[in-house]
Amino acid sequence: QKDGYRYFMEKEIYEQSIVVGETLMGRIKENTIVLDELSHIDFSAIDAIKICACGTSYHAALSACYMFERLSKIRTNVEIASEFRYKEPLLDPKTLFIVISQSGETADTLEALKMAKRGGMPTLAICNVDNSSIVRTADATILTRAGIEKGVASTKAFATQVITLWLLSLYVAQIKECIAPERLNEEISALLKIPLVLKVNEQTHEKIRRLSKRYLHGHGFFFIGRDLFYPLALEGALKLKEISYLHAEGYPAGEMKHGPIALADSELFTIALMPKNLLYDKMKSNVEELGARDSTLLIISPEPFDLADDFIKTNAHTHMMGEFFEMMLITQLLALEISIRLGNDVDMPRNLAKSVTVE
Ligand code: M6R
Repeated sequence: QKDGYRYFMEKEIYEQSIVVGETLMGRIKENTIVLDELSHIDFSAIDAIKICACGTSYHAALSACYMFERLSKIRTNVEIASEFRYKEPLLDPKTLFIVISQSGETADTLEALKMAKRGGMPTLAICNVDNSSIVRTADATILTRAGIEKGVASTKAFATQVITLWLLSLYVAQIKECIAPERLNEEISALLKIPLVLKVNEQTHEKIRRLSKRYLHGHGFFFIGRDLFYPLALEGALKLKEISYLHAEGYPAGEMKHGPIALADSELFTIALMPKNLLYDKMKSNVEELGARDSTLLIISPEPFDLADDFIKTNAHTHMMGEFFEMMLITQLLALEISIRLGNDVDMPRNLAKSVTVE
């Protein structure tokens, strides 16, 4: 059932345009976000959000942290589920506890959820699998509707999680009346454009396929970004390491000087996520510093960049989430093409399982 694609992961990357449409279906009506699933959560009794997840779902959670604070004006904090479980956390019934999971069966996430429930916290699951253990345990669920994901390296599940979290942050902003109607309209029209943004451009895919041959060796990769593009950098690095077995790390670009730049030399590949709509000049100077130390620079941006060794031009978007999703697509395709060139089994990478039901 690969429908002509080489791997399920490739098929799932191409499906993203359609499945995010499913995620949005029925949830935007007359310029209002409608999440009937949440009707029994009393948001007036909630003054903070805590999110727990693992792996890719944790990266979606990190992106939500920016969205909840920026749009919903609510204090938000994110933890890796396996850390949360054993740190004797404070469980505050005025904090909404959100778990994010593709499978709904991840042991650490499920146990964190049970702890939060025992502590009297209201709980919400953002999950792809209905009737999974996590869905059955949480007080409320928003299903991400990505469809079955077969590739061990998560792609469409991540895209639908971020869309769901964006919807949720707007929903909370609406309820708290902390978003101006014009801003809400702008956000909704940006949201509705994402299915189109996620349509794979065959020329871009071909370009990535061609340039991937330059990125097979060397002693490692830095994926760098700022703000929302930092969780995306983490996710880009995770995708690459999972299926290529090359060493890749994601960093907030501003952290370079605090240690990681010591690794920069001609053997280091830098993948820079440089949106036009967000801190472009700051990113530029971080990237220049890496280029000055001979790192090979692959720049993903709508703006050409003098020092780039390779450049993947993105479209001009008026909203940074348009840039976010286009860059997500590019990093997924890059990981896919590098892995294929290395002769790896893209869908079943070594040492990994699709669902981690033991800790
Ligand atoms: O099913 P979950 O979302 O709870 O799974 C969490 C992680 O195990 C998962 O995202 C893992 O990191 C993927 N292999 C990432 O591609």
